[in-house]
Amino acid sequence: MSSKKIAVETPNEGMRLVYDDLREWLAEAELFNEVKVVRGASWQEEIGLATELVSHSDTAPAVLFEDIPGIRKGFRVLANIFGGKRKNMTLGFRSDLDKVQLSDAFANAWDTDRIIPPVYVESGPIFDNVRTGADVNLEIFPTPIWHAGDGGRYLGTGSYNVTQDPDSGEFNLGTYRIMLHDDKHVTYNAAPGKHGRLHHDKYVERGEKMPVVLVLGGDPLTFLLGGTEVPDGVSEFDVAGGMRGKPLELVRGRVTGLPFPANAEIVLEGFVHPDTLVPEGPFGDWTGTYTEKGRKRPLCEISAIYYRNDPILLGFVPQSLPDEYSRYRAITRSALLKQNMTAAGVPDVKAVWAHECGGSRLLYGVSIKQRFDGHAVQAGHIASQCYVGAYGGRWVIVVDDDIDVTDLHELIWAALTRADPVQDIDFIRGAWNSPADPRVDPADRARGKVTSSRMIINACRPYSWRNEFPAPVKASAEAAQRARQKFGWLLE
Ligand SMILES: Cc1cc2nc3c(=O)[nH]c(=O)nc-3n(C[C@H](O)[C@H](O)[C@H](O)COP(=O)(O)O)c2cc1C
Repeated sequence: MSSKKIAVETPNEGMRLVYDDLREWLAEAELFNEVKVVRGASWQEEIGLATELVSHSDTAPAVLFEDIPGIRKGFRVLANIFGGKRKNMTLGFRSDLDKVQLSDAFANAWDTDRIIPPVYVESGPIFDNVRTGADVNLEIFPTPIWHAGDGGRYLGTGSYNVTQDPDSGEFNLGTYRIMLHDDKHVTYNAAPGKHGRLHHDKYVERGEKMPVVLVLGGDPLTFLLGGTEVPDGVSEFDVAGGMRGKPLELVRGRVTGLPFPANAEIVLEGFVHPDTLVPEGPFGDWTGTYTEKGRKRPLCEISAIYYRNDPILLGFVPQSLPDEYSRYRAITRSALLKQNMTAAGVPDVKAVWAHECGGSRLLYGVSIKQRFDGHAVQAGHIASQCYVGAYGGRWVIVVDDDIDVTDLHELIWAALTRADPVQDIDFIRGAWNSPADPRVDPADRARGKVTSSRMIINACRPYSWRNEFPAPVKASAEAAQRARQKFGWLLE
């Protein structure tokens, strides 16, 4: 494990993780009264239906599915972890923070310089059950069909892949959905440019199959880091340790030697065969649309499976928007995007919100305190193209700091009243995009072109006459407070 960062001994500022693994997380969520148990739901349809129902509401509970027909008793599925008070607990913060305060707290605590490298241990509960070679059977797990239009069963949604850069030796954790093919095979879907895909491409260049470990269900924080834009060259294992204030305990796979947490729930170990392409998807994805038909991904052959007694498969499944997935991404991506912009030298970025209605990628609202002519254009272009914002974006709206960027009405109102379409909208063409984008032209897709364009709306008051710009018809904070005090009863 290599890391360029400096190890620390204390957790990141303001964080207090109260759980080490998924079972301790469940016990904590139960203390908030935010877990409900469903018995007898089918993996064919009902787990997906129930998950869809709860994942649109921030106040709905997490759901633990037990006694799944046709599946060995004790094997469970957990869905909708990121909602209610438990979402703050999951990230290690007080439960009374609202989503914007939570995002700010995460931003303050997020520091990939404060890392604690993992330690290696000989064994752990993940080795309660070990199956290798001919004994591998992926069909023992309760893998749901999550959406009616999915092209198959998805084993990995609340999961991450561990791969190793064959040049640098660095480990990467990346969340890429995993489709079940048969008792010994899966495919997964790492988009071009993702770290796990870059590793894969290096193995392809070498003409070698790539070793991989797939962690399905485990400590929610480490899983969420697998789905977060941790910079290249920084291991998510190290960052997870830094956030906890203590190292993760890792074991090594018996076939590949790749590391994974000793307290994970289910781990698959195997090799990706670059030349054997098999159908993947469609899958209901983060855009709120299904991925296209006919996609093919390299086959991954599983050589060993490890699981705890009574394992819990974690589901984290995109739905029509907004959903659980976009709630999580809004909190963390808004925080990281603001950091990236500031690190790139954009001054006075006041607030950033990655809107849930756009899967927390397609619409970024950015507010600045304008300091110079051109500041808003700089902010918009950098938000659109920095590491955290570059992938799969669509619109960036830059506004003055009197606008609440988390409020869609205010954000769009500012764009409608302060931006002149011809003068204040820039376009960027050929930008890094997600293959999940439903607007990619099928003919372009067929020849491997999935880039897209960006629209950057400068919705700040024009700098040179900003002081003459008509004032908004809005009570001052002081007047609004007086109105509430005297006339608040009218709204009761
Ligand atoms: C639940 C979940 C599922 C995801 N599925 C995919 C996927 O199938 N393919 C993909 O390229 N990215 C997917 N992502 C986004 C990546 O995990 C994310 O961009 C992450 O930063 C990738 O890690 P990397 O930067 O180390 O490559 C998913 C994220 C989450 C949280």
